[in-house]
Amino acid sequence: MRLTDADCKAYEERGYLLIPGAFSSAEIEAMKRELPALLADDSPRRVLEKDQQTVRALHGCHEINEVFGRLARHPRVAGPAQQILGSEVYVHQFKINIKAAFAGDVWKWHQDFIFWLKQDGMREPRAVNAFVFLDDVTEFNGPLFIVPGTHRLGVIDVPDGNPPGAQDAWRASFAADLKYSIAKDALADLVNRHGLVSPKGPAGTVMFTHCNVVHGSPPNMSPFDRTLAIVTYNSVENALLPVADPRPEFLVCRDATPLTLVADDALQDSAAGRSLQAV
Ligand code: SIN
Ligand code: MN
Repeated sequence: MRLTDADCKAYEERGYLLIPGAFSSAEIEAMKRELPALLADDSPRRVLEKDQQTVRALHGCHEINEVFGRLARHPRVAGPAQQILGSEVYVHQFKINIKAAFAGDVWKWHQDFIFWLKQDGMREPRAVNAFVFLDDVTEFNGPLFIVPGTHRLGVIDVPDGNPPGAQDAWRASFAADLKYSIAKDALADLVNRHGLVSPKGPAGTVMFTHCNVVHGSPPNMSPFDRTLAIVTYNSVENALLPVADPRPEFLVCRDATPLTLVADDALQDSAAGRSLQAV
């Protein structure tokens, strides 16, 4: 899929772009069929909410699951990522954020790039997120809130809210008490100047976000899940520098080998029998 010039301009100006109808209901169903097994797998890839029962996120599923492997390489997400970043890309992170009905907790206000800069050795904000809506995202079930245009401000330096030292310190990047979150006063000032949006859409929508745009999302007190598959692409020209204490490979990929894309029908039933290598 190619973004139009108007799409690219909107992304550059606002720091996000919403593409409704990028995936069909059959393709979304094919992905959702994979979730029960992944949710049931008690592994470090699975992060729980504070209640220690509800699954908050599943990490690195593209490496262990054929269907999500295809999603990461799909031309309707990886294609625009190549276009936006102006180079070949690889998957820096892949996660599925569940934001479960009644239980999915807040994502505090933050920028993404600061996590990768400070923890992973990413040099430049040359990374883009593709949020694939696996459920309808509405005003009720904890949609993202975005402060548009804030990607142009660069990194807003904030103190580390969860100093290292604890076992599994990486979990602080994914817990409701986020490691690098923006203070209330600073956020109020940003919203005064830039406004606030909350992009929503039916399942099958894809949203691309710049890694420096300020965003967060509220808890989900509705009876509707809000499941998003989030693929973060980094430019192969922005490979990570070595760091003293790298986060686990299933969270952060340090291999910048360019991604090979799959065929456009790779998530359709007709392609289900083919192996990932063959599509
Ligand atoms: C994120 O900021 O990466 C995720 C936020 C969300 O799932 O609402
Ligand atoms: Mn984020």
